[in-house]
Amino acid sequence: MIIPLAHRANQTQEYYFSVKLAEVRRLQAAGHDVINMGIGNPDLMPSPNTLDALTTSARQPSAHGYQPYKGTPALRQGIARFYNHTYGVTLDAETEILPLIGSKEGITHLSLTFLNDGDGVLVPELGYPAYRAVSQMVGARVLEYPLLEHDGWQPDWNAMTDLLAESPASNPTRIIWLNYPHMPTGAPATRALFERAVRFAHDHRVLLCHDNPYSLILNKKPPISLLSVDGANEVAVELNSLSKSHNMAGWRIGWMAGAKAYVDAVLTIKSNVDSGQFRPLMDAAAEALTNPDDWHHDRNAIYQDRLEAVHAFLDTLGCTYATDQEGLFIWAKLPNSVESAETLVDDLLYKQHVFIAPGFIFGPKGNRYIRISLCMPKERIWEAVNRLKLAN
Ligand SMILES: Cc1ncc(COP(=O)(O)O)c(C=O)c1O
Repeated sequence: MIIPLAHRANQTQEYYFSVKLAEVRRLQAAGHDVINMGIGNPDLMPSPNTLDALTTSARQPSAHGYQPYKGTPALRQGIARFYNHTYGVTLDAETEILPLIGSKEGITHLSLTFLNDGDGVLVPELGYPAYRAVSQMVGARVLEYPLLEHDGWQPDWNAMTDLLAESPASNPTRIIWLNYPHMPTGAPATRALFERAVRFAHDHRVLLCHDNPYSLILNKKPPISLLSVDGANEVAVELNSLSKSHNMAGWRIGWMAGAKAYVDAVLTIKSNVDSGQFRPLMDAAAEALTNPDDWHHDRNAIYQDRLEAVHAFLDTLGCTYATDQEGLFIWAKLPNSVESAETLVDDLLYKQHVFIAPGFIFGPKGNRYIRISLCMPKERIWEAVNRLKLAN
């Protein structure tokens, strides 16, 4: 290529899964039966009424044109009702909800809206890689706040305050990313944690961006939204998504919820980047949001059933893990006998044709960990266990 890349393209690496899944597809094309337990891509179906709504809507002549930049009123009202029913949070459907093309997109839009070149952004290490990658792309200064096993993967708020003190007055820290139930460690959300986070955001005048896609997956207690905490409205926004909770990852339906001023500011940026979503997707998403509690319960029963096989897989590897994790994954520590997560993951992929995620893709503190997804039928996970046992 004779045209030089922009600095941001040179400093950004292709997403790990984008590279590794191409490798998985190459092995599959060569005839290998790869069991993919790496990625959180639900294999279960959306509810039947969701699919009916999609096809009914697609047959409407009015469904195929541009749609409102801030989504249809029906979708926003559906999200508002879902927030009320699920979390006891009242949102104004007209002003406090912004549908997104998946919540991942919201990370970029929030960053573009609130971060100037050189501003600080607090990012969890360990955490979802997009927080860091996008912060760097927009020229922000990444301040990693460590999450450690012996702290139950909870932030150390005093250490966080010290990190803020390093920021020059001209480039303060403006955003803190938070995500509980936490990916990849499965640490649950608690009201005490959210209250502490909101106090921190008020004390330091940073925007608390909470990413909440896993609240309904294997949750042991009623799900919580950060927006249910007193005072959150002034300093916090929440991203949420149908990808995991409604088995709709490929549909790319997420949203941001928060005070009107935050929603308006993000919409100003976003309306210059994309032009809304396909109407049938929004109509069907509104329908999905009416799935009864039993539907969620049944989905969780399937994941719960798969856990036994995942635990057997980890036991065979000699890993240790917490049994109270929430979300779509199990996070496990490698035994000392394993040299590194990278060699283990590659050995499993190329010898046993089983793909799992190495912990280091979520930050260096994940070096001695692996993450197993529950998005595989239990028979396939048991098949992976058998392959391991045969190889031992
Ligand atoms: C913590 C976290 N946030 C956001 C996302 C992205 O979700 P979406 O499909 O809504 O973009 C993921 C997906 O894996 C995730 O794990």
